[in-house]
Formats: sequence, C-alpha cells, structure tokens
Amino acid sequence: MNFFQINSFIKHWFTSTNKGHGVHSPFIYQLCEEVFYNNFEFYHFKKLNNLRANLLQSKQIINFTDYGAGSKKLKSNTRAVSDITKYGISNKKQNEILFKLIHFLNSNTVIELGTSVGLNTLYLALPNKENKIYTIEANNELCLLANENSKKLDVKNITIINNLFDVALPNLLNQLNTFDVLYIDGNHTYKATLNYFNLALQKINIKSIIVLDDIYWSKEMHKAWTEIKNNKNVKCSIDAFYFGILFFDTNFIEKVEYKIKI
Ligand SMILES: C[S@@+](CC[C@H](N)C(=O)[O-])C[C@H]1O[C@@H](n2cnc3c(N)ncnc32)[C@H](O)[C@@H]1O
Repeated sequence: MNFFQINSFIKHWFTSTNKGHGVHSPFIYQLCEEVFYNNFEFYHFKKLNNLRANLLQSKQIINFTDYGAGSKKLKSNTRAVSDITKYGISNKKQNEILFKLIHFLNSNTVIELGTSVGLNTLYLALPNKENKIYTIEANNELCLLANENSKKLDVKNITIINNLFDVALPNLLNQLNTFDVLYIDGNHTYKATLNYFNLALQKINIKSIIVLDDIYWSKEMHKAWTEIKNNKNVKCSIDAFYFGILFFDTNFIEKVEYKIKI
C-alpha cells in the first residue's frame, strides 16, 4: 500500500461501521447479513478453491500489453499465471462476496470489465446457471485461459468478449435492454471510469447495481468514486474500501451513503 492508501485505510477504519451496526435501511442491513457477514460455504466454493489452487501453481506464461492503468505489482511484459492469480486479480474474500451479492439480488444479466484468468467470472456465473455473464478482456491469451477454466468447471453461461472496453462495452450495451450488475475492474483511470459509468447509466433498471473495484487504488480512482456516488441517479452507495457498490433504486426515500468494514 502507498501513503494515500494507508492514510485512507486508517480514515476508513475509524469512520466505517461493522456488522451492519448503524445501518438504518432494512434492505442494506439484510444485504450486510446475507452478503458481507455471511460465512456460509456455498456448494460451488470447493471447486472454485481447487481451481484457484491450480492457477496458483501454474507456470504458464502470458504475454502482456498494458490496455489500461497498469498493475502496481506486476510490471513485466510476460507474466506467469501463478503471479497473475496471486497479485493481479481480486482475492477470495471479494470473489465470494460478489457470488453472495448476485445470489442475494437474484441478478440475471451481469457484465464484468476485466476477465483476467476468468476465476472471478466463474464466481459471477455460478450463483445461477440461467444468468447471462458477459466479460470483456483485451488480452487474447487471457481470454483463451478464461475459456479453458469455464470448460473445466462445465460452466456455459459466460460470454467472453475479446476486445477493448471502449469498443466492447458500448456495443454490448447497445444489444442489451438492461443489465443487473456491472463490475468495473480494469483500466483504473479517472477518465475511463467516468466514461464506463456514464455509458452504463443509459441501461440501468431500478434493481441495477454497479460495483466499482479499487476505489482507493489511487487519488484519481477515489476522485472518480466520489464524483460517481454523488451522481443524481445514485440513490445509495456502499464504500467497502476495496470496492464500492452503487444502487439506483428509487425506493430509497433519500440518498444514503454507507461505509462498511468487510
Ligand atoms: C484487475 S484485472 C481483472 C480481474 C478480475 N476481474 C478479477 O476480479 O479477478 C484487469 C484486467 O482488465 C484488462 N484490461 C485493462 N484495461 C483494459 C481495457 N481498456 N480493455 C480491455 N481489457 C482491459 C487487463 O488485461 C486485465 O486482465
């Protein structure tokens, strides 16, 4: 962590709530119980843990081109799958939270920006095999690996789109009437993040959510998060430090902002 992240983490620690204390919205309180503080081991977690263990051992080399804001930890143009799995993707806790979130919200159409090895994509796909998961990734070798991983787990509800977010996201949104979850996890720049958010706004429904990863990754990502959560269409936001969640449900009587520890 750099100075900005350490400082922000300390501030977040002292200003956030734990275990849903002080959360007045019944919906968000229930979400805390069922998603953030629910230790239930879902049936699918075992095979996902096995796949993670295999990827952490994999010496396969992936050629890398930087399509976004880059990685803080991995700099080389060739990276072992083991290193990508260790340092370049979201961790198990966050993967499981996303699984539980989709399960709780009963979401149908899910979009992920940034497939990488496709492990998180499987957490998005497995809560309900009827769901449609679209995941976008510019790196062709990662797309092939993600596809192999879906096949290994016999998961068929994932469409991998091998293209730049800037090209693929508007195309995909044009084809969809709406989406339920958009998970933005790549190209962590202020300009790109605002652009993806504004594009997605055109296709939200009352139950849509947007999950924005790495909201304290840099000052510019935090600026993007602050601006986005203040957007008039956002009715509720949850700052969970590692990521933020935005709700558009007009049943929230007034705009609410929560900071929670996970
Ligand atoms: C942090 S990783 C995604 C991790 C994954 N979502 C997870 O939760 O484990 C970000 C990925 O986005 C891809 N990426 C970054 N910028 C991109 C862009 N502009 N267009 C398409 N893919 C991009 C990178 O190649 C990388 O594989």
